[in-house]
Amino acid sequence: MLSNEMEFKNLIKLAKNIIVITGAGVSAESGIPTFRGAPKLRWRNYKPESLANMPAFVKSSSLVWEFYHYRREICLKASPNNAHLALSSFELRCLKENKQCTLITQNVDGLHKRAGSKNIIEIHGSLFETKCMKCHSIEDNFTSPICDGLANRGSPEEDSKLSDIPVEQLPHCDKCHGLLRPNVVWFGESLPEQALEDSIKLLNKCDLCLVVGTSAVVEPVASFPHQVIARGVPVVEFNIEKTPITNNSRYFFQGPSGSILPSLLS
Ligand code: APR
Repeated sequence: MLSNEMEFKNLIKLAKNIIVITGAGVSAESGIPTFRGAPKLRWRNYKPESLANMPAFVKSSSLVWEFYHYRREICLKASPNNAHLALSSFELRCLKENKQCTLITQNVDGLHKRAGSKNIIEIHGSLFETKCMKCHSIEDNFTSPICDGLANRGSPEEDSKLSDIPVEQLPHCDKCHGLLRPNVVWFGESLPEQALEDSIKLLNKCDLCLVVGTSAVVEPVASFPHQVIARGVPVVEFNIEKTPITNNSRYFFQGPSGSILPSLLS
């Protein structure tokens, strides 16, 4: 074993409160495109951020729902990979060793939960929850298509740039019949209050922070590792390439997380 690996394993042995921060890279090996690196999410030449916002939804809820229907389908067809599985086994191991281990994910794909992770904060929401625009109730929803109007829609091809599904054929709330939206945090929106509050408590308490597969450029999560480093607590990063936190991390393990995490966390 390399000395970095031994030292990392020793850090785990000594830690009592571990947080793991994940981003799109952890799901790349499940075939889910990332936002900035390769393979990159492409949909009708729209930039994801130009659709993932409230003004876009107000302008064309049909177009935005087609985009999310496409992403829901990809995620439902995908399976958790070895990185998701290694992280859920790691949580179990921590439990047995009386350590606290919490996963804070920016991913909305639901794969950590499907891999068995329990102690998890989905800080950017979930593709498999809906939120009613009228009564604000949040519900789980794994049905695909989520409504008949979206059947055979959402093709990522360029020639289907326009979207014309009548609003009454989009998903509606069972309780009040308001229009539903995906319960994901859009650009320009605040993170869910409770998720943010819980994350901040964990950042102030943790004694080890692992960061997996995030470009670490989207706030506020991009700042989380820096807050931990500022307390003198070690941050260990796993990524295929360097990021803005690499130089301040205690260790940087380079490679696809599905290949490197299982042995490093075993
Ligand atoms: N293993 C580990 N890391 C990987 C892998 C892999 N197999 N493949 C890609 N990566 C890394 C890339 O090097 C990059 O640093 O994953 C990172 C993916 O970065 P982004 O696409 O920017 O994803 P993320 O950091 O999660 O984005 C944050 O931005 O658009 C928003 O809301 C969206 O939650 C998302 C947020």
